[in-house]
Amino acid sequence: MEAKVNAPNVLIVDDEIGPRESLKMILKPNYNVYAVENGYAAIQMIQQTPMDVVTLDLKMPGLSGIDTLKEIRLIDPDLMIIIITGYGTLKTAIEAIRYGVFDYIPKPFNVPEILSIIDKSIQRRKLNLKVKEVLGNCFHQYLLQEPNSDSAIPLPQEAKGFSDFKWDDANHSDNQNCLEFAKVLAYTLEEKDPYTSGHSERVCYYSDCLSKHLSFSPKERNELQIASYLHDIGKIGISNRFINKKGILTPTDWAIIKQHTKKSIELLVPLNLSPNILAYIQYHHERYDGTGYPDGLIGEQIPLGARIIAISDSYDSMTSDRPYRKPLTNGDAKNELVKNAGKQFDPRLVSLFLDVLKEMEEVFLVKDHLRVPAVSY
Ligand SMILES: [Fe+2]
Repeated sequence: MEAKVNAPNVLIVDDEIGPRESLKMILKPNYNVYAVENGYAAIQMIQQTPMDVVTLDLKMPGLSGIDTLKEIRLIDPDLMIIIITGYGTLKTAIEAIRYGVFDYIPKPFNVPEILSIIDKSIQRRKLNLKVKEVLGNCFHQYLLQEPNSDSAIPLPQEAKGFSDFKWDDANHSDNQNCLEFAKVLAYTLEEKDPYTSGHSERVCYYSDCLSKHLSFSPKERNELQIASYLHDIGKIGISNRFINKKGILTPTDWAIIKQHTKKSIELLVPLNLSPNILAYIQYHHERYDGTGYPDGLIGEQIPLGARIIAISDSYDSMTSDRPYRKPLTNGDAKNELVKNAGKQFDPRLVSLFLDVLKEMEEVFLVKDHLRVPAVSY
């Protein structure tokens, strides 16, 4: 087979000749397609030829799909795996999701669906590798750290690792890629801490709802989404001892925690993000009455996106479980927002946020806790 230069490599693993050959035909125009009929051959093939995506049938004689999956993961943890499953194996397919498969497609498959899923998996793989490269330079130590480690990561010198990743602000598709990159980066970091898992995604969800009510342009919405995902990225440079401390924080503890906005900017500046994104991140702890940090900005001196994130971030933090306290109910969290309108928060935005919450309550409220949906790729 003559390989197409720069085309991703896809391996089809299926014991049935029908689906194997039809998949081959479907994928051939866009990818370098390889096909094998069992798990052993798949493992051998992956060891010889680096693959980007594997489509894996679960029901195969010899090595089962799940066992093949486990073996593949040992060889290449970054490989995108898509399960193709027939009737009756759906339960196993769901089990397979636990082994980090990208998606599953029921048989018989339809062409647009499979092409779309493979394309998404390739995009995701590119982002994963990009994040990993950045992480390799910058966050490697963080990821290797025990979750309860006390030591902080020295950031400024490490931030040089970002310099190869610049986004073209004028280019819309680059903005979309940047958002996907921000998501993967935030997820990768949040995975380490069950208490913050999903936080940036929910902050983005709430902020985005507000921005829609404020008639933001698509570009402004995109910037706010990116900033929402990355707003606390600098916390990786702060020891967990301070972030998750139970009990009262001393003035020294606070001084250290407050550094996270500065550290976020140190990390992100080399990425060439738009100045708006950086400003939203930098000022998301400013308070409307001027008593916030880092610069003590007052009222509308604080960028609108930062005032929005301040509300989304606080609402989600208050209603989330933390090592040092139980989550507040939706009602109690709303009372806190109202109590702090004009002090911590922009009062106009608090009132708008309450309207947004009211709409959400009709759909997502369970025992006075909002269960907002996960935003998928
Ligand atoms: Fe923060």
